Amino acid sequence: MSFKRVAILISGGGSNMVSLVQSMTGDHPARPCLVLSNQADAGGLAKAEAAGVPTAVVDHRPYGQDRAAFEAELIKPILESQADIVSLAGFMLVLTDGFVSQFQGRMLNIHPSLLPKYTGLNTHARALAAGDAEHGCTVHEVTAVLDDGPILGQAFVDVDPGDTAATLASKVLVQEHKLYPQVLRRYAAGDRKPIELR
Ligand code: GRF
Repeated sequence: MSFKRVAILISGGGSNMVSLVQSMTGDHPARPCLVLSNQADAGGLAKAEAAGVPTAVVDHRPYGQDRAAFEAELIKPILESQADIVSLAGFMLVLTDGFVSQFQGRMLNIHPSLLPKYTGLNTHARALAAGDAEHGCTVHEVTAVLDDGPILGQAFVDVDPGDTAATLASKVLVQEHKLYPQVLRRYAAGDRKPIELR
């Protein structure tokens, strides 16, 4: 069996990355080939190494506003890893059109809201402020538009009285860890029909 190769991009703790890596065993159609961070101190790097996944760091800071120069470096380890699929998992930089187009149809992202609601940051506080009864997370294909692109799956949580942005974030994160592996497994097998988890 030939496995799809998955490069996972992170910026922080990497809990979603860990849930993806742990899922890719047995009859799963994919295997992790790289964990790549734009932050040298991302906690997820040690977790990837512990799991035996090759890691790389491309720090964005030396490039300042020069996104093209940064992305020209960022893409190198991904191409070297021969990734078939790129999974953004808490990767906190916006990628330009030029980069995204090179992985069109094979790049995924997880976003902590029920898209199309609340693209961008502070999603939990915004769901609370809007008085939403439910909130959640979305896995979608990445296109040139931020937090846009075909939805591949959504997982829901109830917003309870007394929830804060922090409690909502942890409830949603639990769902992220279930949703992303399920979507990736289906995606790697060629199934792009959206799923819903409640
Ligand atoms: C997650 O909520 C993800 O959706 C995001 O940032 C958080 C990253 O968490 N945008 P982790 O690095 O996967 O633990």
